[in-house]
Amino acid sequence: MTAPVLVAYATRYGSTQEVAEAIAATLRERGLEVDVQPMREMHTLEGYRAVVLGAPLYIGRWHKDAHRFLLEHREALTQQSVAIFALGPLGTDEQEIMESSNELDEELEKYPGLTPVAREMFGGKYEPAQLRFSDRLIAKLPASPLHKMPASDVRDWTAIRAWPGDLAQQLRSDSPE
Ligand SMILES: Cc1cc2nc3c(=O)[nH]c(=O)nc-3n(C[C@H](O)[C@H](O)[C@H](O)COP(=O)(O)O)c2cc1C
Repeated sequence: MTAPVLVAYATRYGSTQEVAEAIAATLRERGLEVDVQPMREMHTLEGYRAVVLGAPLYIGRWHKDAHRFLLEHREALTQQSVAIFALGPLGTDEQEIMESSNELDEELEKYPGLTPVAREMFGGKYEPAQLRFSDRLIAKLPASPLHKMPASDVRDWTAIRAWPGDLAQQLRSDSPE
């Protein structure tokens, strides 16, 4: 029996969880055993061969559960292959994707010991009708990029399914059985 890969996600509205599950499905199709778990419920990484971490960006920051996870598992993560993905941009404009990508890079720079084998940014999903109170306030601000923004879902499922396909081979060969 080989050790499983952990796909750990953080989410506020569920779109990152759906992406995490699609990534897990591709890894399974490639013959890997995979556990999908919310990051905040993981208190040990023992027994996993590799970790795929996914979380959305909110106001230029990676989800707080992702920061907690990276701090709590700082030591363990230096011993394992780590792949990272984030959800963010709500449009397909190059400039917007670049800005979100830079936001993620700035967040990851806070963890100099972290050397991901892969890092990817996917488009996100936005449902103004579902926003919690604090996010609704942000979206109402005329200066906010979310102001009067319609619902959107720019998750590219072809790209989301392709990314872990490339990763599977690497995770299989990098890590101990
Ligand atoms: C209040 C709010 C702030 C956001 N801020 C950012 C941001 O700074 N950068 C970004 O790329 N995406 C931002 N987004 C888009 C989210 O990352 C996107 O909606 C993502 O799919 C949400 O993931 P979740 O459903 O897993 O919580 C924001 C969304 C909301 C509602």
